[in-house]
Amino acid sequence: MLRGWILCLLVAFAYTEDEHNIRKRQAPDFIDFVYNILDGMPLSSCFQCPWIQSTIDCCHFLPLGGPEWQTTRCSPGLAWNPDVCNCDYPENVPLCNPGRDCISLQEPGVPLQTPTPAPSCPLNLAEDECCLPRVGQFYKKINLTHYRINNGLIQGCPPGQEFSEFDCCCEGHAVLPNPCKFWTFDRKVGEEYIDIKQQTYGQSIRAEIGIGVDDEGKGLHMNPNTMMTIPFFAGAHLGKKFSIAIWVKSDSNNIGSAVISNGNRLNDPTVLLIMVGNSIAGGIATQDEEFMDALDLPLTSMGGDGWHFVAMVYNDPILSFYIDDQPAIQYRNGGPILSNYCQLNIGGVLFPELNVDNLGICDFDWTEAQVAEFQSTKNIPTDQQFTVRG
Ligand SMILES: *[C@@H]1O[C@H](CO)[C@@H](O)[C@H](O)[C@H]1NC(C)=O
Repeated sequence: MLRGWILCLLVAFAYTEDEHNIRKRQAPDFIDFVYNILDGMPLSSCFQCPWIQSTIDCCHFLPLGGPEWQTTRCSPGLAWNPDVCNCDYPENVPLCNPGRDCISLQEPGVPLQTPTPAPSCPLNLAEDECCLPRVGQFYKKINLTHYRINNGLIQGCPPGQEFSEFDCCCEGHAVLPNPCKFWTFDRKVGEEYIDIKQQTYGQSIRAEIGIGVDDEGKGLHMNPNTMMTIPFFAGAHLGKKFSIAIWVKSDSNNIGSAVISNGNRLNDPTVLLIMVGNSIAGGIATQDEEFMDALDLPLTSMGGDGWHFVAMVYNDPILSFYIDDQPAIQYRNGGPILSNYCQLNIGGVLFPELNVDNLGICDFDWTEAQVAEFQSTKNIPTDQQFTVRG
């Protein structure tokens, strides 16, 4: 019964293929299926929004818990959207019409305006501000290396890079001493969830250390609703070059697991790997792609039950998927990977259980040879120094 259902789902997938063998778009059934899985992720998989709507009107917000004098107004034409913890276009905020509900937007002496469509970006940007109209991301430069998105948390550029208000992104040539994070899960007891390259903190939410890849050594074992969460990635700028790889143990009885995700029912993921049976699906959501969702690869068979290697490499605009020894599968995205307030979560929703090992994440795009090298040696490529451009 169950198998039959998975099979139906598989044949229902459709994708188009253009002459460059660059594929895109998922069947609506599959999108629903994936979002149903993510709906089961706990609310704690995404940080609580540090701001709330003000009592003044739905175009003002203030820090959660005050103080009130820090109340801030959204840019003209935008409304406060608590779901995304940002000022947003009114069409995304059904309960707020800035032209009607936000009288306080009126400047003294200016007649009440009839509601007009939201501007694509705030008008009158200051010199240290810029805005990406397509996604409504509004940046304010704090200093050479730091900026805010949509009046949110201060974020820093990757080491060595500087924020450009002209290009509206972090850029510059930088030599990163340690561009990778690598969780082998092999460290001494109590430190298994910390990456071995940058000491990035990963937290076990009732996950366990179990058997590793090829059933040797140590790996990460998760029962239903347990996960490892990596707070570093909440709000992080993942940029235009990014690589992530992991080994997963598949099982034909698996009815749907979030393997890697940064979303839940309130937040769309921007990095995603979903496993169903022995198949894997996922992708990244980027700023300029036609469909800004994290579904690029439809469910794709990895073979039989057991350990499989999966890597996603993004080099704007091309996303490449590597599954075991299959040829790379490529998708066209475009622009930097979108940020959100969710941690990067490994596991979280699954049945019956999930085993993963050797999670590697780098700030640069791996070559095909580096992917193969990581797959065969299980050493993350950090030997060279990499020049990156945000
Ligand atoms: C830039 O601002 C950030 C955040 O306020 C701060 O941590 C950092 O030290 C500042 N850098 C410089 C060079 O002033």
